Amino acid sequence: MKNRSLVSIDDLTTEEITRILDLAEDFEKNPVQPLLKDKVVATLFFEPSTRTRLSFESAISRLSGKIIGFTDSSSSSVTKGETLNDTIRTVSNYSDLIVMRHPIEGSARYASEVAGIPVVNAGDGANQHPTQTLLDLYSIRKTQGKLDNLNIFLVGDLKYGRTVHSLLMAMSRWNTTFNFISPEELRMPKEYKMYLDNLGLKYYEHTDFTEIISKADIIYMTRVQKERFSDPIEYEKVKNVYVLRNSMLRGTRENMKVLHPLPRVNEIHMDVDQNDKAYYFEQALNGVYTREAILCLLLGIK
Ligand code: CP
Repeated sequence: MKNRSLVSIDDLTTEEITRILDLAEDFEKNPVQPLLKDKVVATLFFEPSTRTRLSFESAISRLSGKIIGFTDSSSSSVTKGETLNDTIRTVSNYSDLIVMRHPIEGSARYASEVAGIPVVNAGDGANQHPTQTLLDLYSIRKTQGKLDNLNIFLVGDLKYGRTVHSLLMAMSRWNTTFNFISPEELRMPKEYKMYLDNLGLKYYEHTDFTEIISKADIIYMTRVQKERFSDPIEYEKVKNVYVLRNSMLRGTRENMKVLHPLPRVNEIHMDVDQNDKAYYFEQALNGVYTREAILCLLLGIK
């Protein structure tokens, strides 16, 4: 994996995914090691972030690396009209690896083609978020003891949700059964359903999940993303369509966990937080170990 970029989860073989998850397990046991002592990592966030940026920066700090970058492109020369090409080529001269979040789909692939150093996609529009997927896989494997033959419920904004797009592509490698729960307006895009059709995998579409919740191994909640709607009235219609409450978890499987990439707005009521089945804050912590593993493998350390 040395010197490669990570733009889409499909850039990785199943063996490579397993290698990342195994290494993340080692980092969970021993997260502070001076492995990036001589490395500079640039974090370029053209879109807001809490978990992805801070867990990457926490991972880099715990490995003794240095961080440069920006949290808001308005403080960079982008405001003067600098192109993405020129920004990336310049930052490549100052760093060993770039972590980038950008609102435009395909921007991370483009950056990886001009950078000359590894680029990690920290989310490109509604397209992909592969490092989120790796920490999701880590969380699923840790809580279920396996990745294969699980019944996964993807709930909420399946149209614009890059985390569910990446997760679907990844979990399709392990004979997963998918249940897609969304309003009509936010259904899983056709290309992802075709992806599963081509693999012969089962998926079911619903607008409600109260009757079938007892069948889930993982309930993966997502936020309806206001920032992806061009018409605010359309957002208002669907913004609170699903609210998971503690009472709804009665009768769910013993092993079942509720995941969410976060941030949440209203889709998981705070009364769920005290339930042992709520796993989203631990999931966010797993992002540190998973990102330590990703950084080390792409930089050829370990
Ligand atoms: N899960 C996730 O991408 O969160 P942030 O937007 O806070 O980085």
